Amino acid sequence: MKITFLTLLAATTVYAGGFTSTCTNLYLISTAVGGVCKRINGSTNNSSVDANGHIGNSNGKLVRFSGGYKSSCRNCHISTGTSGKQFILSCECNSSNGWKATSIDINWFLSNQNGVLAWDK
Ligand SMILES: *[C@@H]1O[C@H](CO)[C@@H](O)[C@H](O)[C@H]1NC(C)=O
Ligand SMILES: *[C@@H]1O[C@H](CO)[C@@H](O)[C@H](O)[C@H]1NC(C)=O
Ligand SMILES: *[C@@H]1O[C@H](CO)[C@@H](O)[C@H](O)[C@H]1NC(C)=O
Ligand SMILES: *[C@@H]1O[C@H](CO)[C@@H](O)[C@H](O)[C@H]1NC(C)=O
Repeated sequence: MKITFLTLLAATTVYAGGFTSTCTNLYLISTAVGGVCKRINGSTNNSSVDANGHIGNSNGKLVRFSGGYKSSCRNCHISTGTSGKQFILSCECNSSNGWKATSIDINWFLSNQNGVLAWDK
Protein backbone atom coordinates (compact mmCIF):
# COMPACT_ATOMS: atom_id res chain seq x y z
CA MET A 1 0.00 0.00 0.00
CA LYS A 2 2.70 2.44 1.02
CA ILE A 3 4.76 1.84 -2.12
CA THR A 4 1.73 2.26 -4.36
CA PHE A 5 0.91 5.55 -2.69
CA LEU A 6 4.47 6.91 -3.04
CA THR A 7 4.63 5.88 -6.69
CA LEU A 8 1.40 7.72 -7.36
CA LEU A 9 2.69 10.80 -5.56
CA ALA A 10 5.95 10.83 -7.55
CA ALA A 11 4.10 10.40 -10.84
CA THR A 12 1.84 13.36 -10.17
CA THR A 13 4.43 15.87 -8.91
CA VAL A 14 3.36 19.29 -10.08
CA TYR A 15 5.96 22.00 -10.42
CA ALA A 16 4.76 25.47 -9.58
CA GLY A 17 7.63 27.81 -10.17
CA GLY A 18 9.74 29.31 -7.44
CA PHE A 19 13.07 28.37 -9.02
CA THR A 20 14.94 31.24 -7.34
CA SER A 21 14.71 29.49 -3.96
CA THR A 22 16.95 26.67 -5.22
CA CYS A 23 19.04 28.46 -7.88
CA THR A 24 21.77 31.08 -7.39
CA ASN A 25 23.91 33.27 -9.70
CA LEU A 26 20.81 34.15 -11.73
CA TYR A 27 21.36 35.66 -15.15
CA LEU A 28 19.79 36.95 -18.32
CA ILE A 29 22.06 36.59 -21.37
CA SER A 30 20.32 37.87 -24.48
CA THR A 31 17.02 36.03 -23.98
CA ALA A 32 18.40 33.09 -21.96
CA VAL A 33 17.28 32.97 -18.33
CA GLY A 34 19.37 30.82 -16.03
CA GLY A 35 21.11 30.09 -12.80
CA VAL A 36 23.12 27.55 -10.92
CA CYS A 37 20.44 25.13 -9.75
CA LYS A 38 20.56 22.58 -6.95
CA ARG A 39 19.78 18.94 -7.54
CA ILE A 40 18.12 16.71 -4.97
CA ASN A 41 21.47 15.02 -4.32
CA GLY A 42 23.08 18.35 -3.45
CA SER A 43 25.16 18.88 -6.60
CA THR A 44 24.42 21.80 -8.94
CA ASN A 45 23.88 22.43 -12.63
CA ASN A 46 24.18 25.73 -14.47
CA SER A 47 20.89 25.58 -16.31
CA SER A 48 19.09 27.98 -18.62
CA VAL A 49 15.97 28.25 -20.76
CA ASP A 50 14.94 30.60 -23.54
CA ALA A 51 12.52 33.35 -22.55
CA ASN A 52 11.73 34.65 -26.02
CA GLY A 53 9.60 31.61 -26.85
CA HIS A 54 7.47 32.12 -23.72
CA ILE A 55 7.19 35.85 -23.06
CA GLY A 56 5.55 38.29 -25.44
CA ASN A 57 4.79 41.98 -25.80
CA SER A 58 1.09 42.78 -25.67
CA ASN A 59 0.84 46.47 -26.61
CA GLY A 60 3.63 47.56 -24.28
CA LYS A 61 3.18 44.89 -21.58
CA LEU A 62 5.32 41.81 -21.04
CA VAL A 63 3.00 38.80 -20.90
CA ARG A 64 3.19 35.07 -20.34
CA PHE A 65 1.84 32.33 -22.67
CA SER A 66 3.14 34.24 -25.64
CA GLY A 67 6.50 34.83 -27.29
CA GLY A 68 8.72 37.10 -29.33
CA TYR A 69 9.17 40.00 -26.90
CA LYS A 70 12.74 40.47 -28.13
CA SER A 71 11.67 41.91 -31.48
CA SER A 72 9.64 44.79 -29.96
CA CYS A 73 11.29 45.40 -26.56
CA ARG A 74 14.59 46.99 -25.62
CA ASN A 75 16.85 47.74 -22.63
CA CYS A 76 15.87 44.52 -20.84
CA HIS A 77 17.40 43.64 -17.49
CA ILE A 78 16.64 41.46 -14.48
CA SER A 79 16.39 42.08 -10.77
CA THR A 80 15.54 39.88 -7.81
CA GLY A 81 13.17 42.40 -6.22
CA THR A 82 12.95 43.49 -2.61
CA SER A 83 12.55 39.91 -1.37
CA GLY A 84 15.60 38.77 -3.34
CA LYS A 85 13.47 35.84 -4.49
CA GLN A 86 11.77 37.31 -7.50
CA PHE A 87 13.10 37.17 -11.04
CA ILE A 88 11.78 40.34 -12.55
CA LEU A 89 12.34 40.87 -16.24
CA SER A 90 12.02 44.58 -17.05
CA CYS A 91 12.10 46.11 -20.52
CA GLU A 92 10.83 49.01 -22.55
CA CYS A 93 8.32 47.57 -24.98
CA ASN A 94 6.72 49.16 -27.99
CA SER A 95 3.01 49.92 -27.97
CA SER A 96 0.54 51.93 -30.02
CA ASN A 97 1.65 54.88 -27.84
CA GLY A 98 5.38 54.28 -28.16
CA TRP A 99 7.82 52.74 -25.70
CA LYS A 100 6.47 51.70 -22.29
CA ALA A 101 8.36 50.52 -19.22
CA THR A 102 7.05 47.09 -18.26
CA SER A 103 8.08 44.17 -16.08
CA ILE A 104 7.02 40.64 -15.23
CA ASP A 105 8.07 38.34 -12.38
CA ILE A 106 8.89 35.04 -14.05
CA ASN A 107 9.99 33.29 -10.84
CA TRP A 108 6.54 31.70 -10.59
CA PHE A 109 6.55 30.33 -14.15
CA LEU A 110 9.86 28.48 -13.97
CA SER A 111 10.71 25.38 -11.95
CA ASN A 112 13.97 23.76 -10.98
CA GLN A 113 13.43 20.11 -11.91
CA ASN A 114 16.37 18.44 -10.21
CA GLY A 115 18.93 20.87 -11.62
CA VAL A 116 17.21 21.52 -14.94
CA LEU A 117 15.12 24.66 -15.41
CA ALA A 118 11.79 24.22 -17.16
CA TRP A 119 8.80 26.41 -17.93
CA ASP A 120 5.60 25.41 -16.14
CA LYS A 121 2.65 24.49 -18.30
C1 LIG B 1 24.04 13.98 -8.53
O1 LIG B 1 23.26 13.67 -9.67
C2 LIG B 1 23.84 14.10 -10.90
C3 LIG B 1 22.83 13.88 -12.01
O2 LIG B 1 22.31 12.59 -12.00
C4 LIG B 1 25.15 13.38 -11.11
O3 LIG B 1 25.73 13.80 -12.33
C5 LIG B 1 26.08 13.71 -9.96
O4 LIG B 1 27.28 12.99 -10.10
C6 LIG B 1 25.44 13.36 -8.63
N1 LIG B 1 26.29 13.90 -7.57
C7 LIG B 1 26.42 13.30 -6.40
C8 LIG B 1 27.27 14.02 -5.41
O5 LIG B 1 25.88 12.23 -6.13
C1 LIG C 1 26.50 29.78 -16.24
O1 LIG C 1 26.43 29.76 -17.64
C2 LIG C 1 26.38 31.06 -18.20
C3 LIG C 1 26.13 30.91 -19.69
O2 LIG C 1 27.05 30.08 -20.27
C4 LIG C 1 27.67 31.78 -17.87
O3 LIG C 1 27.67 33.07 -18.42
C5 LIG C 1 27.81 31.88 -16.36
O4 LIG C 1 29.04 32.46 -16.01
C6 LIG C 1 27.72 30.51 -15.73
N1 LIG C 1 27.68 30.65 -14.28
C7 LIG C 1 28.50 30.02 -13.48
C8 LIG C 1 28.38 30.34 -12.01
O5 LIG C 1 29.32 29.20 -13.87
C1 LIG D 1 21.99 21.13 -17.04
O1 LIG D 1 20.94 21.95 -17.50
C2 LIG D 1 20.77 21.94 -18.90
C3 LIG D 1 19.60 22.83 -19.25
O2 LIG D 1 19.89 24.12 -19.01
C4 LIG D 1 20.45 20.55 -19.38
O3 LIG D 1 20.39 20.56 -20.79
C5 LIG D 1 21.52 19.60 -18.95
O4 LIG D 1 21.11 18.30 -19.27
C6 LIG D 1 21.74 19.69 -17.45
N1 LIG D 1 22.87 18.86 -17.10
C7 LIG D 1 22.77 17.84 -16.27
C8 LIG D 1 24.01 17.01 -16.13
O5 LIG D 1 21.75 17.60 -15.67
C1 LIG E 1 5.85 50.40 -32.54
O1 LIG E 1 4.51 50.01 -32.69
C2 LIG E 1 3.81 50.81 -33.61
C3 LIG E 1 2.34 50.44 -33.52
O2 LIG E 1 2.15 49.05 -33.63
C4 LIG E 1 4.43 50.61 -34.99
O3 LIG E 1 3.75 51.39 -35.93
C5 LIG E 1 5.89 51.01 -34.94
O4 LIG E 1 6.50 50.73 -36.17
C6 LIG E 1 6.61 50.26 -33.85
N1 LIG E 1 7.96 50.80 -33.70
C7 LIG E 1 9.00 50.04 -33.43
C8 LIG E 1 10.30 50.73 -33.28
O5 LIG E 1 8.90 48.83 -33.30
